[in-house]
Amino acid sequence: MRRTPLAELLQNELERQDFHPRLPGYKRVYEAIRSAIVNRRLPAGSKLPSSRDLAHELEASRNMIVAAYDQLQAEGYVSSQTGSGTYVADALPDGFNGEAAVVRQREVGGTTDPELILSKRGARLTREKGVENYEVQPFALRGKMDLLNFPIKTWQRVQNQVWRREDITLYDYDTDGGYFQLKKAVADYLRVSRGVSLVPDQVLITAGTQQSIDLISRILADQDDVAWAENPCYWGAWSSLYANDLSIRPIAVDNDGMNPSEEDLNSLPPKFIYVTPSHQYPTGAVMSLARRKKLIEYAQRVNAWILEDDYDSEFRYSGRPLASLQGLATEAGIDRVLYMGTFSKVIYPGIKLSYLVLPEPLIGAFKTALYDLYRPGQLHLQAALAEFIDQGHFTTHIRRLRQAYAQRRTLLLAVLEKTLAGKVQQIVVDAGLHFLMRLPPHIDDLALAAECQAQGLSVRALSRYYIGPTDARGLVVGFAYVDTNDLVDCGQRLGSVIKAVLG
Ligand SMILES: Cc1ncc(COP(=O)(O)O)c(C=O)c1O
Repeated sequence: MRRTPLAELLQNELERQDFHPRLPGYKRVYEAIRSAIVNRRLPAGSKLPSSRDLAHELEASRNMIVAAYDQLQAEGYVSSQTGSGTYVADALPDGFNGEAAVVRQREVGGTTDPELILSKRGARLTREKGVENYEVQPFALRGKMDLLNFPIKTWQRVQNQVWRREDITLYDYDTDGGYFQLKKAVADYLRVSRGVSLVPDQVLITAGTQQSIDLISRILADQDDVAWAENPCYWGAWSSLYANDLSIRPIAVDNDGMNPSEEDLNSLPPKFIYVTPSHQYPTGAVMSLARRKKLIEYAQRVNAWILEDDYDSEFRYSGRPLASLQGLATEAGIDRVLYMGTFSKVIYPGIKLSYLVLPEPLIGAFKTALYDLYRPGQLHLQAALAEFIDQGHFTTHIRRLRQAYAQRRTLLLAVLEKTLAGKVQQIVVDAGLHFLMRLPPHIDDLALAAECQAQGLSVRALSRYYIGPTDARGLVVGFAYVDTNDLVDCGQRLGSVIKAVLG
């Protein structure tokens, strides 16, 4: 069908605006015309087609067009003269560039429902994953700072030492991918504790693991490239990959870690493979050596990058830790692992300092991109952390945390075992800051987590961590951030809620 220029313009506007599919039809037409008027593509005095003609040309219902015209008229964008037609108003409504515009933006389409205002990506990001109760309560996986276990006085002293330095460069942006002493301290620590093979220049200091994944995605992947993600998966990783328009392929996890099927291995090869091999999040599985080797070989064969997230490897209570995938791969001469770690768990979450260890050929590009995309800084904080590590406080602190968390773990397991005797599978916790309590498939773990939440106990439902439908049910329980004095009481209450549901 040949359209009039105006109908063509509105059709283009409708396509350009990529409206949310749930926005009512008349609102889309209204928005398209309003935008054309505000942007002067439809000048003052232009005559709009009759509602019947426009409905015909846009293949829309006439009611939809009438409703759009009515709203435009009510807001003063158009005026209607009986018998003569509808015209774009000579003057735009007052303040459409000022206050009214702000209100309009918040109420786009006459709604305050964020789902209808956000981009499709924004809506999915905020609807599907992550966003949870920000309150930190017993058994949450993210800790409020545990002052009893944090050497706050030492930390203050070290910071004061750094602030007294007359080093003007500390006030600048960070142009070198991190403060050198911190990169060196991280490199020394990772070499010894995690078997990572590196020199300090390979370390990039970032503002959290999600920023590391964001940066990796922007620099190494293009839209719709495939990223393998463990299923169940860490929400933060999923969000960063999804926000960068990667096509996420969920890969099953069993007791030996990520377990790609034949179908996975024969599908379009991934650009990234995101894994938490030391302590799978949230199941707690440790990736076996055989799986690690297979994964490295596969990544080498298909030119994929392995994103190794070693988020809580400092906390191992029994058994021998396996060295990092990065170390294993480098030993075999394979440079395909990007290793990530964070200070969130070992210092405190709000410090927002983490590290990314890069294969040498990527260092230059990543430093440039880090600077260009985020303009990092906080060099005083980085310098203080370097001092904290160099003066030996970091190692002492981790040792103390490990002891405290091991004690909490033992206490909680004992309480739960007593309350839930024989009702749940035995819980094994060799490492980390949380454990998974698996539940039978008929249990609604979302409802159970909500019930716990109502009782002031913050646990998470296992099923929420899955990408796509699942039969898996369970609760993910953090034990590290519960005050030791409250643990028995909280543990008993948690046990009772679960017991009541299990019957
Ligand atoms: C699997 C995993 N990776 C990384 C992190 C830490 O992320 P960040 O460094 O952004 O605090 C967490 C925090 O809970 C996590 O669970």
